Amino acid sequence: MFEFRKPLIAANWKMYKTVGEALDFVKEFLPLVAGVNEVDIAVCPPFTSLAALSIGFKGSTLKLGAQDVFWESQGAYTGEISPTMLLDLDCRYVIIGHSERRHVMGESDLIINRKIKAVGLAGMIPIFCVGETLEEREQGLAREVVRQQLEKGLQDISAQELVIAYEPVWAIGTGVNASPADAREMTGFIRENLAILYDKTWAEDVLILYGGSVKPDNIAQFMAEKDVDGALVGGASLSGVDFAQIVRLNGNV
Ligand code: 13P
Repeated sequence: MFEFRKPLIAANWKMYKTVGEALDFVKEFLPLVAGVNEVDIAVCPPFTSLAALSIGFKGSTLKLGAQDVFWESQGAYTGEISPTMLLDLDCRYVIIGHSERRHVMGESDLIINRKIKAVGLAGMIPIFCVGETLEEREQGLAREVVRQQLEKGLQDISAQELVIAYEPVWAIGTGVNASPADAREMTGFIRENLAILYDKTWAEDVLILYGGSVKPDNIAQFMAEKDVDGALVGGASLSGVDFAQIVRLNGNV
């Protein structure tokens, strides 16, 4: 965690919480993080709770994010949601290329690339997820997989504002987090590659998050790593108390 990059702790709620449950979370969570200014906090609920949270977060420093987006701004695309619609609900971030979308919905690097471009054009910040499977890691392919995801996902993109989340697939939802050393190695590798793909100054400004079984009792170890600028938190972000502890790096809530 470098001084000039303000850390970001983002909640990815995945397909959890009704609107009522989302509002209950706000009621519990907001007082627990009152006065926290050292980190930016974002919550990415399902689309159905965005409008309610956009109202619930008014007057707070909490930022809203979506978990996915389509790349066109409007049109005959049944079931899709556009960047314009997300912006209209005060979304600042959009998660793109999460491993569940890559592996369950079969989302390709090309689609991910289109979405990153569309989100940037709309003036929001993509949280672009990369990460290798266990099999790829065991075969010694982790770096190459991540390098290719970066290169293809960021093809033809000029240095737009961007957050990258390194989420090793084997650490997501398993309770088996990567070691801080694994996170150090890969986040450093990602930053080196961004400097090669674009320029060094831009690469130094990009926030790189770690994601995968982040909990109140391991967040501080990740944040101690120089290229880890925050976390993308799944399961532990569903509880207001746990997520507040993570935001406070396991300090008192
Ligand atoms: P968990 O924190 O539940 O492992 O999920 C991580 C994740 O996928 C965040 O996007």
